[in-house]
Amino acid sequence: MLSPRQANATDRTPVIDACIIGAGSSGIACAKAFHERGIPFDCYEKGSSIGGMWRYDNDNGLSSAYRSLHINTSRDAMQYADFPMPRDYPPFPCHQLIHKYFENYVDHFGFRHTITFRNSVEHVRPVADGGFAVTVKDAQDKLITKRYGAVCVANGHHWNPRFPEFPGEFTGQTMHSHDYRTPEGFEGKRVLVVGLGNSACDIACEVSRIAQTTFISTRRGAHIIPKYLSGLPMDTLIPAFFWRHLPYWMIRPVVSAALRLARGKHSWYGLPDPKHRFFEEHPTISADLLNYLGHGYLKVKPNIQQLAGDKVRFTDGSEEAIDIIVYATGYNIAFPFLADTVIDPRQNQVDLYKNVVHPDLPNLYFIGLVQPWGAIMPLAEAQSKWVADILTDEVRLPARGDMLRDVRRYREKMARRYTRSARHTIQVDFHPYLAELDRERHRRRCSRRP
Ligand SMILES: Cc1cc2nc3c(=O)[nH]c(=O)nc-3n(C[C@H](O)[C@H](O)[C@H](O)COP(=O)(O)OP(=O)(O)OC[C@H]3O[C@@H](n4cnc5c(N)ncnc54)[C@H](O)[C@@H]3O)c2cc1C
Ligand SMILES: NC(=O)c1ccc[n+]([C@@H]2O[C@H](COP(=O)([O-])OP(=O)(O)OC[C@H]3O[C@@H](n4cnc5c(N)ncnc54)[C@H](OP(=O)(O)O)[C@@H]3O)[C@@H](O)[C@H]2O)c1
Repeated sequence: MLSPRQANATDRTPVIDACIIGAGSSGIACAKAFHERGIPFDCYEKGSSIGGMWRYDNDNGLSSAYRSLHINTSRDAMQYADFPMPRDYPPFPCHQLIHKYFENYVDHFGFRHTITFRNSVEHVRPVADGGFAVTVKDAQDKLITKRYGAVCVANGHHWNPRFPEFPGEFTGQTMHSHDYRTPEGFEGKRVLVVGLGNSACDIACEVSRIAQTTFISTRRGAHIIPKYLSGLPMDTLIPAFFWRHLPYWMIRPVVSAALRLARGKHSWYGLPDPKHRFFEEHPTISADLLNYLGHGYLKVKPNIQQLAGDKVRFTDGSEEAIDIIVYATGYNIAFPFLADTVIDPRQNQVDLYKNVVHPDLPNLYFIGLVQPWGAIMPLAEAQSKWVADILTDEVRLPARGDMLRDVRRYREKMARRYTRSARHTIQVDFHPYLAELDRERHRRRCSRRP
């Protein structure tokens, strides 16, 4: 193992060995970029294969995929730029096909041997003379500590369930959408699904076919987006050119009008008409929800006011007897292997330059830690290429003060644009964010050293 060279935030010398944590769709994008660029690295993966979230019943114990899961970002929007999804895939494939695509990606570019499976990173500790001490638990539960010049965290951000707190106590069954797999067990039950994000819509629709009654509870409503509009996947409707050159608030009236034409008002289906505007929340995409409401399979409730034994009281004063509550209330960002003094993701706030670079700890990077209007994979791919540029000293980062200013601006922008919620701390717009990363890669290019 080569020892890492000293680096600092403003003048980073190339790092010669890196550690990637996780081999989900973000970790493999990073491994591929480093493999191609000749950056020596080890990639550690807790599970016995790649795919992370998209490996159903993954033996890493972290996947939130359910049996009926299909992507809601379309095939063409989700594929890596340099590895198109097979043309015989449907526009919104199921999780099995998505996982197969990731497996093929690793084998096509030939870097499976760089991933150490059944190895879990337990601690990452910055060391005084630069770099990191990384402690890994191997397949035999033995702890091994190695030194690396750089660490790329790609541990995902949809595995640590976020539970809301409501007064009172519920005596029925409680679960989080993270643990939901199939509708078995919901037959004839009175079910309450909490939340109106993508997990809530998928699960509520699925269980409502066999449950006695299914309620869906929302505290502020959401703009429900169909998967298709005019026969095209929604996320391919507005060409990248417009996204890159027009601010979102100029695109908003066009999309809002098109959606209004397609589905009318939410209140026509029994949902609250959201007070916030389109583009002010993470998108809820559902081809089924409005139909299921129309068919009477689902009933809408406002937020929970009180849990009362086997009953739930809502903020409109209504009360329902409930057997199972499914909290589809999102996820916490968590890095169990990093001390809070390194990064403290409380309330899902993480202050990273361009959502990737730790401004105070040189060579600590985060891949895939974004919540896009669009798919994560091409963004993780672009982030990885940028980090590879930094590690090979082709691109420089701005000074620490500039990075911190940018982080503050981003935080303020998020707070102005989005409804206040822990799910809106790492939002990015797909095409503008890609353009930003592109700018970082090209504007800050260093002249090659002799
Ligand atoms: C139900 C659901 C549906 C979704 N649908 C879409 C969609 O349609 N389109 C989209 O773009 N996004 C979607 N997402 C978002 C999803 O997070 C991404 O698609 C994608 O899985 C992110 O990949 P990742 O590699 O960042 O994280 P993950 O897929 O979670 O992979 C992280 C990997 O890191 C490993 N790991 C974690 N900790 C350690 C450790 N300490 N040591 C070693 N390895 C570790 C894990 O084992 C795992 O393999 C969905 C999310 C959910 C929950
Ligand atoms: N088919 C698919 O491809 C698919 C399926 C599922 C999930 N996903 C993706 O997976 C990620 C996670 O989605 P998710 O739906 O699990 O989580 P999410 O997007 O964070 O949504 C959580 C929902 O719970 C609500 N909520 C949170 N805390 C609450 C509280 N205290 N009281 C009442 N309501 C509360 C939120 O409302 P507020 O807005 O008011 O906070 C929101 O409606 C997203 O990226 C999503 O796109 C994709």
